[in-house]
Amino acid sequence: MPEPLTPSEAGARVAELRDTLGRHAYLYYVRNRPSISDEEYDRLFRELQALEEAHPDLVVPESPTQRIGSEPSDAFQSVEHAAPMLSLDSAADVAALERFDDRMRKAVDPVRYVVEPKLDGASVELVYEDGLLIRGVTRGDGRRGEDITENVRTILSVPLSLRQEDAPVPSRVALRAEVIMRVGAFEALNASLLAGGGSPFANPRNAAAGSLRQLDPRTTASRPLDIFVYDILAIAGAAPRSQTETLETLRCWGLPVNEWCRPAETVADIVAFHGEIEDQRDDLDYEIDGIVIKLDDMAQRDELGETSHHPRWAFAYKFPPRKEITRLLSIVPSVGRTGVVTPIAFMRPVELGGVTVSRANLHNREEVARKDIREGDRVRVQRAGDVIPQVLERIDEPGRERTEPWVMPAVCPSCGTPLEEKGPYTRCPNLFDCGAQRAGRIQHYASRHALDIEGLGDETSRLLVDEGLVVHVPDLYDLNVEDLLPLDGFARKSAENLIAAIQSTRTTELARFIYGLGIPEVGVTVARELAMHFRSFEDFRAADHETLQTVDGIGPIMAEQIVAFLSRPRVSELIDGLRESVDPRPPERAGDALAGHRVVLTGGLTSMSRNDAKKLLESLGAKVTSSVSKQTSFVVSGENPGSKLEKAETLGVEILDEEALLALLEENGVA
Ligand code: IVH
Repeated sequence: MPEPLTPSEAGARVAELRDTLGRHAYLYYVRNRPSISDEEYDRLFRELQALEEAHPDLVVPESPTQRIGSEPSDAFQSVEHAAPMLSLDSAADVAALERFDDRMRKAVDPVRYVVEPKLDGASVELVYEDGLLIRGVTRGDGRRGEDITENVRTILSVPLSLRQEDAPVPSRVALRAEVIMRVGAFEALNASLLAGGGSPFANPRNAAAGSLRQLDPRTTASRPLDIFVYDILAIAGAAPRSQTETLETLRCWGLPVNEWCRPAETVADIVAFHGEIEDQRDDLDYEIDGIVIKLDDMAQRDELGETSHHPRWAFAYKFPPRKEITRLLSIVPSVGRTGVVTPIAFMRPVELGGVTVSRANLHNREEVARKDIREGDRVRVQRAGDVIPQVLERIDEPGRERTEPWVMPAVCPSCGTPLEEKGPYTRCPNLFDCGAQRAGRIQHYASRHALDIEGLGDETSRLLVDEGLVVHVPDLYDLNVEDLLPLDGFARKSAENLIAAIQSTRTTELARFIYGLGIPEVGVTVARELAMHFRSFEDFRAADHETLQTVDGIGPIMAEQIVAFLSRPRVSELIDGLRESVDPRPPERAGDALAGHRVVLTGGLTSMSRNDAKKLLESLGAKVTSSVSKQTSFVVSGENPGSKLEKAETLGVEILDEEALLALLEENGVA
C-alpha cells in the first residue's frame, strides 16, 4: 500500500491530474489527436476520483469528475440570453444568394465573407465567467431560453474551463454553439432505444435537442452529444474584429470549432463551397442542412445591423430538402440473413435531395403500430445523412377510408416456418434452410466489404436461390455461364461477367473472407483485426475463446459468439465447402523484418496515434499485443507510460522510446 498523501501533496497531485486530464480531453475531443490510451486516461481519472473522495475539500466544479453532479430537477428555469440569439435569413436557390451578395456590395466595401457549414443540431448559449463554464441555455424564443447548465456540462467536448495559454480569457463571455449528435452515434442510440422497446428519434437534431432537455442529467450524460462553437454573443472587454479572428480565438480557448469554415469573396467561391460540402454531405458524420455565409468584418456587421429576427450580414444557403410526402403502397415483411423479419414500406417513388426513394425500413411490428401507418396512407419520408430513408409519420387525411392495421404474418413468408417473437423483433428460426436467409447470406458474402462480387446484389442472390441454382454460398463457385443464361435479366455478356467476378474471388484477402462468413457481431473492423492477428484462416478457425480475446476489440461475449458460430456443424460444413474453392490470403506486409516479434505499446506517442503505430508494426510482421510477458520482444514506451513499462523493466524486456521506434520503422521503409 502506498503511503497516504499529506493534504498539501494531495492538493498538488489533484491539480496536476486535472491539468493532465484537461490536456488529454482537449487532444481527444477537440483536436481529434489522442496521445494516450483510453485505459491510461481512465487510470488517471480514477486516481483523481479517489483523491477527491479522500479530500472532499479539493473538489471544484470544473474538475473533470464533476460533469455529472446534480440530481434530477423538476423543471428548467427560464433565463435571458446575454444577447438575442437571432435566426438566419435562408433560401435554397442561388438567385436569393446573389441578391444577398448584391445587398452586401451596395452596403460595404470591401466584401469579404466567411462560409461555414450550417450544422443541423440544437442551438445553445454557453457562458464562461473567469474562464469557467457557468451556464448553458437553450435557444428558446431567441430572447430567453431554458437553463440546461447541468446537461451541457455532461457533453465531453464542452470544456468546463477555457484554455488560457494562447489567448487571454475575458472575465465574461457568452458563446453560441450547436449541439449535435453524430450519425453513427444516433443510429446506435436509436437501435438501443428500439431494442429496449422505446421509440427512436426521427433524426439526429431531434435526438440532440431531446437529449439536452432531460430533467435527469445522467440521461443526458448517457447520450453521445457533441458540440461546435461558432459565435461570440457577448464579451467583456475587447472583442475579435472579424469572424476569422473569432474562430481563431475560440480555437485558442480550447473550444471545438468546425474544420470546414473558410474565407470566401465572391458568389462563385460560395457556390463552389456549397457544391463541395454537398458532395461530402453523406460522408460527414454529422448532419448539415446548408451553408452559412457571414460578413467577416465586425465593424461592417454593426453598420448593417439586424431585423427583428435575423442579422442583415448573414445568409443561409440551404441544401434541397430531404423530406417529402408520398403514398405508402404496401408493407412487406422481409427476412434478412440473420432471420430477423423486418417490415419494409414500398412507396410511390419520391426524390429526396437528389436521390429517388421508394422503400424504407419500418424496423419492427411495434414501430408500425406506434406510428399507426397502414397501406394506402400518405406519409412523410426523410433521408438523413447516408441513413436509409425513414417513414417519419403518417399524414392525416380526414374523411378518407383507411385500410386495416398491418399485422406481421405468423409464418415466415419465405419458408413457412412459424415465426418467433423476441421483444419488438420477429425472427424466422429456420437458419439454414430458409430461402430468404440463404439469399441474404449470399448477398452478404458478395457485398462490397466482403468478397465484393460485382453483379451479385440483393435481387440476383434471391433469383439464384429461388431458381435452385445456388443453395448455399459454396455453390456459387460451381455456377457456369450456361446456368445463368435462362434467367431473367441475363444476357451472355452479363452472365460471363458475373461468373468471372465470382471466379476471381478464389483468392481473396483473409479479412474479406472472415467478414463474408457473416459471423454474428463480426463487422469489417473486427474481421480486419482477426485477419491481422491470425494471418491464416485455419489458425483463426481453431482459436479458442481465450485466444480470441487477445485480439484487439474482442471481448468475452464476442469471443463466445464466434466460437459458438464456428462450431455449429452446419456452419462447419459450409466453411469446409468454401475452403475447397477459396484461398484467403493474409494481409500484405511491407516486409517481414519483425516477423515473430511480439510488441507492446504503452503511453502516448506524439508523432502518430497508437493505432497507426500498431498498423505500421504489423505491416512489418510484428504481433502487437496488449500485455507484457517474457515472450514480449520489446515494449515501445511513449508519454505517461502505464504499468506495462514497470512490468517490462521487471522482466528485463527491451524498451524503445518513440525516437527508437521511428528509427526502426524508417530502417524498414515504413516511417
Ligand atoms: S450563425 C446571428 N452559423 O442555424 C447568426 N448559425 O436557421 C446566428 N446554425 O438557429 C447564426 N450552423 O443555430 C450560424 N455555422 C453556423 C450555424 C448556425 C447552424 C443554426 C443556428 C440557427 C439556425 C438558423
